[in-house]
Amino acid sequence: MKVIVCDNYDEVSEKATQLVEAQILENDHSVLGLATGSTPLGLYERLVEGVTLRGIAYKNVCTINLDEYLGLEKEHPESYRTFMSVNLFDKIDISTENTYIPDGTFDTAEEECLRYEQVIDSVGPIDLQILGIGKNGHIGFNEPGTDSKSLTHVVELVASTRESNARFFPSIDEVPTYAITMGIKSILKSKKIILMAAGKNKAEAVKTLLSKDVNESFPASILWNHDNVTLIVDRDAYELVKS
Ligand code: F6R
Repeated sequence: MKVIVCDNYDEVSEKATQLVEAQILENDHSVLGLATGSTPLGLYERLVEGVTLRGIAYKNVCTINLDEYLGLEKEHPESYRTFMSVNLFDKIDISTENTYIPDGTFDTAEEECLRYEQVIDSVGPIDLQILGIGKNGHIGFNEPGTDSKSLTHVVELVASTRESNARFFPSIDEVPTYAITMGIKSILKSKKIILMAAGKNKAEAVKTLLSKDVNESFPASILWNHDNVTLIVDRDAYELVKS
């Protein structure tokens, strides 16, 4: 795992932007794996700017998102489809049919998981996967204890994840209880992975990750089994790591 320590969140976003845009310049038919949450927002802002400022074209790019809440319509203000449309897709020249996000309204979620894994294999492999990290080490919605060989699957969200995501909903009762997520093995199929972490509230997680104890009780640690992972971290998130 390559570790890049940045001064602040802006620099984390800037560094990630450079790597994503380099990927697209190298292959304009790249497949990007994308995450939601607060961490990649600065990256997405800069990718939008890159269209006009640097002439980056998304016409032939495909994106595959990590996860989606179960039970939310695509148009729901807090669905991950809406998040991606508002923060990125509606602002760049990407075709909607090239953007893949699990369908959280599928009658039989298990069938949707199988279909989505086939998307990952047929549209992919993902050239570059963007990840954030949960305070408990989750990646996607793969909570502690998730099988490292897991493919796309349905998960029941743990209380801490629902509490942390409650900030986006009118009340915690409205945060969905289940989600569909790419599994850990699905994520590891990506050719390259960028894990972004910023802020003091991620410091414990970054410390645990960099202790190199590869353990399913801390899902992000399984990334040590992949040979092309770059952690981009700011000083706040890095502060508990002993140098
Ligand atoms: C979202 C996702 C999650 C987040 C993680 C960190 O698609 O995959 O694993 O990356 O919960 O969230 P933030 O960035 O909000 O701290």
